Amino acid sequence: MTTKILLTGANGQLGWELQRARPDNVELIALGRDALDICDADAVAQRVAELKPDWIINAAAYTAVDKAESDAANATAINVAGARHLAEAAAANGVRLAHVSTDFVFDGCKSRPYQPDDETNPAGVYGATKRDGEEAVRDAMADKALIVRTAWAYSVHGENFVKTMLRLMNDRDELRVVEDQVGTPTWAAELAKVLYLAIERQLSGTYHWTDTGVASWYDFAVAIHELGRSLGLVERDVTISPITTEAYPTPVARPAYSVLSKDAMRQATGYTGMHWREALTNMMKELEHG
Ligand SMILES: NC(=O)c1ccc[n+]([C@@H]2O[C@H](COP(=O)([O-])OP(=O)(O)OC[C@H]3O[C@@H](n4cnc5c(N)ncnc54)[C@H](OP(=O)(O)O)[C@@H]3O)[C@@H](O)[C@H]2O)c1
Repeated sequence: MTTKILLTGANGQLGWELQRARPDNVELIALGRDALDICDADAVAQRVAELKPDWIINAAAYTAVDKAESDAANATAINVAGARHLAEAAAANGVRLAHVSTDFVFDGCKSRPYQPDDETNPAGVYGATKRDGEEAVRDAMADKALIVRTAWAYSVHGENFVKTMLRLMNDRDELRVVEDQVGTPTWAAELAKVLYLAIERQLSGTYHWTDTGVASWYDFAVAIHELGRSLGLVERDVTISPITTEAYPTPVARPAYSVLSKDAMRQATGYTGMHWREALTNMMKELEHG
């Protein structure tokens, strides 16, 4: 049986990977912001009613973490109102919604993996709007909502830490990278795969997904350098020095610890996941082959 899925935010990192990972039994209607602006409640209601998909995947979001501090109205319009428009249209048409959220809903003060039902306490505007977006989805859809939080996402498509590091490594002799923030990198291709597994199993509730293992941003950068050198993506050796968060202030505090527990999603889908280093190798091989 074919599952019809409406994808919003189709031109982002995750949206692009979801298009690439589409299973054969999925009919995917992939709409970028130009085709469907989720801030436009009428357009969302009309599209959902006319397309009548089985599921919506919301990969659209305002993701500029620091910029959100001075652009709260836009972040709120997209991450809260946009999510609510989709959830209301889904509820009105008997459609299921998979909504993607973030580790930034947590404050990062724990020292063991965050469980989906741990208390949220976002540090900045971006995290607060994503938390409020989750709530809006739960309010509109009750037990029919599927919310999947992820972290440290990257893909060959779009801008992300991996591509920024590679650019800087080809430009500088030394890089200083934060060592006292830990989490887990996530290849958006793996997240896309898991979202399809979750939809196939008709999951509802709140789940977490990242690749497996744990790293600091410094570890992540060292791995990018090592792989970049061996794949020919980095032209010469670069010194990578660990620094503290204090030495690299950002407008919004990043969670010091943002490892997410994947146990519930593993149990529900039967998929354990891929170690972040293996996933990074796969992505960087894609970059190598252009
Ligand atoms: N990237 C990460 O490290 C990370 C970490 C944790 C969670 N997440 C979550 O993962 C999800 C996917 O993120 P991503 O990395 O794929 O982000 P992304 O690459 O920034 O993609 C977001 C997409 O949403 C689109 N968009 C923005 N406003 C829209 C609107 N009003 N209507 C329709 N589309 C709109 C953007 O279009 P424009 O390009 O035109 O703006 C962009 O294509 C998001 O929910 C994000 O919060 C990401």
